[in-house]
Amino acid sequence: MKIIKSIQEMMAYSQGQLAAGKSIGFVPTMGYLHEGHAALMVRARNENDCVVTSIFVNPLQFGPNEDFERYPRDFARDEMVAENNAVDVVFYPEVHEMYPNDPSVVLHVKRRVHALCGKTREGHFDGVATVLTKLFHLVSPTRAYFGMKDAQQVAVVEGLISDLNFPVELVACPTVREEDGLAKSSRNVYLSPQERKEAPVLFRSLKLAAELLEKEKNITLVKEKMVEYVETETSGNVDYFEILSYPELEEVPCSMQTMIIALAVQFENARLIDNLLITPK
Ligand code: PAJ
Repeated sequence: MKIIKSIQEMMAYSQGQLAAGKSIGFVPTMGYLHEGHAALMVRARNENDCVVTSIFVNPLQFGPNEDFERYPRDFARDEMVAENNAVDVVFYPEVHEMYPNDPSVVLHVKRRVHALCGKTREGHFDGVATVLTKLFHLVSPTRAYFGMKDAQQVAVVEGLISDLNFPVELVACPTVREEDGLAKSSRNVYLSPQERKEAPVLFRSLKLAAELLEKEKNITLVKEKMVEYVETETSGNVDYFEILSYPELEEVPCSMQTMIIALAVQFENARLIDNLLITPK
């Protein structure tokens, strides 16, 4: 496995692969890799000639009061996870390699960002779109792999790829969970033992909401019940509990289209998100 830290070397590698007629599977990450990331690598391995993963904690997508500095990092462990999942190249640039100057151009995402995490994390998806645009240029992937754990990110990336005509196929992969249902996340390490015990309530509330929606068409009522449920069963505060159309993320009556049930819960040192898609029967 190769570790590449420079942009120039990354571009030379991907151009070489493409010239040799090879397909490139790309898994962009911020590191502190877990089974969720590994599942994307396995899928990329199965579907492409070579697999590139990037590990880059992107400052552009963190707000001033967010956890950029304290985002967990462990490159030695990440290297092992990548190696064990047959990744060919880890692209691991420093911040000044990606952003040598204060950027003169950044992207602005206009749609699919006015709900869920986009509502409170202002500029977050602009940062995601900007870094992914750079990464897509450097890696030239045939396919790029994203987890549905971050369903809003998938919706935004779908718009990015289509609007800017990147010749990349987006592959959305299912959320990988702990045995008790908690979605795997790099931020789970910040839960206290008590919060960790409570955290499976998040996924339970999503499934419960899906069941309720089969009988109860009043979305507002279902949301209210679920906020109460989560706040009674955990010590966290519900940041949002939403039921929207997917991928447009608009408030519509529960109908014949795919809907997302999504929530964010703030615990003392970690904000957790989860979601469930429901498709009409
Ligand atoms: P990060 O949070 O490291 O996630 C990298 C990828 O792993 C994302 O596509 C995310 O949805 C996926 N992932 C995380 N947890 C998962 C789980 N439990 N099951 C399945 N997939 C999971 O998302 C980012 O990094 C960044 O925003 C990035 C796209 C790299 C841009 O900086």
